[in-house]
Amino acid sequence: MLYFDHSATTPIHPDVLAKIQSVSQDHFGNPSSIHSSGRKSRAILESARRTIAESIHAESSEIVFTGSGTEANNAVLWSMAQREKRHVITSMVEHPAVLKVLQKLEPFGVTFTALSVDSHGLVDPKELEKAIQPDTGLISIMMVNNEVGTINPMASLVKVAQSKGIPFHSDTVQALGKTPLSAKAIHADYFSFSAHKLYGPKGVGFLFKRKGASLNPLILGGSQESNLRAGTENVPGIAGLAEAVRLATARLENRRNHLSELESIFKSEMATDNIDVVYNGHPDYRVPGVISASFQGQRSDILLAKLDRQGFAVSSGSACGSGSVEPSPVLAAMGISEAQNISTLRISFGRGNSSQEVKKLVSAISNIIHG
Ligand SMILES: Cc1ncc(COP(=O)(O)O)c(C=O)c1O
Repeated sequence: MLYFDHSATTPIHPDVLAKIQSVSQDHFGNPSSIHSSGRKSRAILESARRTIAESIHAESSEIVFTGSGTEANNAVLWSMAQREKRHVITSMVEHPAVLKVLQKLEPFGVTFTALSVDSHGLVDPKELEKAIQPDTGLISIMMVNNEVGTINPMASLVKVAQSKGIPFHSDTVQALGKTPLSAKAIHADYFSFSAHKLYGPKGVGFLFKRKGASLNPLILGGSQESNLRAGTENVPGIAGLAEAVRLATARLENRRNHLSELESIFKSEMATDNIDVVYNGHPDYRVPGVISASFQGQRSDILLAKLDRQGFAVSSGSACGSGSVEPSPVLAAMGISEAQNISTLRISFGRGNSSQEVKKLVSAISNIIHG
């Protein structure tokens, strides 16, 4: 199987796997225990926290471990049910881990405005400013879109929030490891992250919560994570997460260059093969290696199934949407016609892909389309 669905999930990096295995084998103590076995696990946990904090230019005390990126988003959004100001501004192209949560929060008095995006998937800071109401208590706008890879103008969006004293959250699950991300450079109050999008394990994530920003725990029980997230920490998973984050940031430029190169090869081979294709997303403000491609007159579910039978893994729309022939709400919000929408594949490259593999993919697409 040649794998081109890295925006859905990534294979685990060998160094991350080695870390998880060694911690699992050698350190099983509960990090809340007082004896030396527990203290050793605690030390691993805190070292992971420091590594992550350094990688995103934050303080260790600003990192809260969670069970996923979804949970990090939920923690921030559910906190709104206990706020005085309960209006949230978000965008129409957020992941369901934001939009579905906001819908669920309506009976708790939380209202929301979902901003529209332009044809490239960008949120306009001026639109954000216009949408602010006296009771706006949170702005939650993703940094990188999971279907088209467009990068929002974070600095300008956060500036609008700051000028009105409104807390800002960003779902940065698709950003880390693909574009520079620094909590010093972007003054958001909260960022959500997930390990399995960056060659780390599944079921582990973290929330960056800036010092002073408030958060009500979503999961109650013990006093782990400074009373912000109860439950015995997944120490091996967190050690693996830290290694994945360290590698993703230390090798960012290498990885970006590799992805950009694969993307150019893909596009030039597609042009050589005369394939009728439209690329969605912003031409410049986007992460490398995430291609949203609409194939004129084709159906994405059929293309996907044919490619799968030939040993190529790609996606139609987001991972959560695959398997259905429903048009993608993200592409619809960008004003893309239904015909173009349902003819769209997401092809996302990763560190393990080679130019030879990309050429094989284009030739398989070409054979399917040209018959
Ligand atoms: C933008 C975005 N947010 C959140 C998530 C959910 O992350 P996790 O799988 O860690 O819950 C995803 C995963 O598809 C995503 O792409």
